[in-house]
Amino acid sequence: MLGCTQFGLRSRASIGVALFGLWGLHILVRSLTNDQTSTDLSAGTKPAPASVIAIDGPAATGKTTVGLRLARELGYRLVDTGMMYRAVTWLALKRGVDPSNEVAVIELSGRAVIELLQPDASGTPRLKIDGIDITDELRAPDVDRNVSLVSRVPQVREAMVRRQRELAREGRLIMLGRDIGSVVLTDAPVKIYLDASAAERARRRHLELKEDGIDRPEQEIYDELVSRDEMDRNRHASPLRPADDATIIDTDHLTLEEVVEEVRRAAAAS
Ligand code: DC
Repeated sequence: MLGCTQFGLRSRASIGVALFGLWGLHILVRSLTNDQTSTDLSAGTKPAPASVIAIDGPAATGKTTVGLRLARELGYRLVDTGMMYRAVTWLALKRGVDPSNEVAVIELSGRAVIELLQPDASGTPRLKIDGIDITDELRAPDVDRNVSLVSRVPQVREAMVRRQRELAREGRLIMLGRDIGSVVLTDAPVKIYLDASAAERARRRHLELKEDGIDRPEQEIYDELVSRDEMDRNRHASPLRPADDATIIDTDHLTLEEVVEEVRRAAAAS
């Protein structure tokens, strides 16, 4: 199905520059706005779009693809908060630190310098850690398997959330994650929660990886998604759940275009 193939296209966040620290956590995030110009949603007689749009949902529901599309239309910055947690996870694995060792993860992340750069010509934002571009490794299977262990650590989350709120203060942004509407930006005028069945998400992720030349069994992807969902939904700190006032969109039977249209509608109605 065309829509499903489109859904498989992966996009990533564009983010900016800043220095922040917590428990010695120092992460440099280069903050660059999306270079696309603002277009129709804010033009003519149409109402101005909300300045902050939160998009949450489990893995592989199309958040990044939808977010990038809308960010381009609106000329907004796109912040994919999952990249921040993935970067810390990658670093732990690289340094031989057990991702389930919370003390070690907090300590390690304290020395990390992360730069999130503007999307390249193909629409892929780059991420550097300690000066090394690790963009192509952020979605590696071992990062996928371990990122929930890192993102459940309250001290790591608090540092990330602080920075995410700083970015949102500037407005004109779309922020993607799990807890944006429910915790990070509870006042966001537009809150979207994208959902889909685990089977459909595994199918999409399988196609997506295939496009990148990675052929992994769909069942294996399914098992990992279910296990990550379980951890994300049941963790103590900011569990994955829709905000009470979020617009929930079940994307199982929708094409990318249809999902984008629904989000557009929700943004325009705010
Ligand atoms: O969106 P993603 O798959 O790149 O996210 C990677 C992990 O980070 C995911 O398991 C959940 C976690 N995450 C989170 O806990 N809070 C966020 N705001 C974003 C991601």
